Amino acid sequence: MPVNDLTVRGLRAKVPQAGADWAGDGQVAGRAGSVAAMTALEQPVAARWRVEQNDCVRFLASLPDGSVDVITTDPAYSGMNQHMSFGHGRIVGRYGDADNASWFTEFRDDPATFLAFLRECHRALADGGHIYVMFDSFSLLSLGHLMREVFAVKNLIVWDKVNLGMGHYFRRRHETIVFATKGHRRLSRRDLPDVWQVKRIHRAVYPTQKPVALFSHMLAGSAEPGMTVCDPFVGSGSSAVAALKAGCGVVAADVDPRAVQLASDRCIAVAAGLPDPGERPATVHSRP
Ligand SMILES: C[S@@+](CC[C@H](N)C(=O)[O-])C[C@H]1O[C@@H](n2cnc3c(N)ncnc32)[C@H](O)[C@@H]1O
Repeated sequence: MPVNDLTVRGLRAKVPQAGADWAGDGQVAGRAGSVAAMTALEQPVAARWRVEQNDCVRFLASLPDGSVDVITTDPAYSGMNQHMSFGHGRIVGRYGDADNASWFTEFRDDPATFLAFLRECHRALADGGHIYVMFDSFSLLSLGHLMREVFAVKNLIVWDKVNLGMGHYFRRRHETIVFATKGHRRLSRRDLPDVWQVKRIHRAVYPTQKPVALFSHMLAGSAEPGMTVCDPFVGSGSSAVAALKAGCGVVAADVDPRAVQLASDRCIAVAAGLPDPGERPATVHSRP
């Protein structure tokens, strides 16, 4: 299996490149004890994960038709940042500096590229598959409507971050998540509201890192143990951690090697039953 050998924050791990298969995951999880020696089929479901460095559309195109059950994703939209000034870099450092390590590559989110992305999501999803796509307030209005061209949109969910954030007029306290399906499969629960109170993360280890609890809410009525969860913009790996904790397999990608490293380290730990190194439990508060 091809691997990248990367060093980030003093940690070293073998990180899979595009095209690595399930069987390689044991090698990636080289520090995860007995999991490392198993083939893909022998691994417990929760240990089946793959995070690769790749562009979202190329990554999705590499997945077989109908091979994933749930997509939970938080794309790197560029629209909001192109249309608004963040002031003095209090959110993510000096936005726009080419060498600003506090930021990450943005997805070119013009409608044509976003539609191509959604169509690949649709192809990779199994019939009855569920998809959750996060949108900031700008991208919700500029791109959110395109979800209807590809999927059956079912709900607009509000993530209430509880504490106030930045904002030029009203200060931002929420983000939105569009929930849609490919074909028809109901949620497995009838008690889930469409407003989720989950405190934002303080002292995040990655720019725009989201709480694992947010992705756990997405999976609560959509995933069963043994299903495969996909995130083409995995960032720090919070979605992957939520999926592993739900007993699901994970296929994920990010263009940024720092993200791939971090997400891989978190998967290695969680699949081995160790605490998630990316999130201190005390920093997150969640109320569905
Ligand atoms: C909003 S962040 C995701 C944060 C993640 N949900 C978390 O909790 O850490 C978006 C991610 O998309 C990645 N990205 C940007 N352009 C991409 C592309 N074309 N393909 C795949 N990933 C991309 C960025 O590197 C960044 O890590």
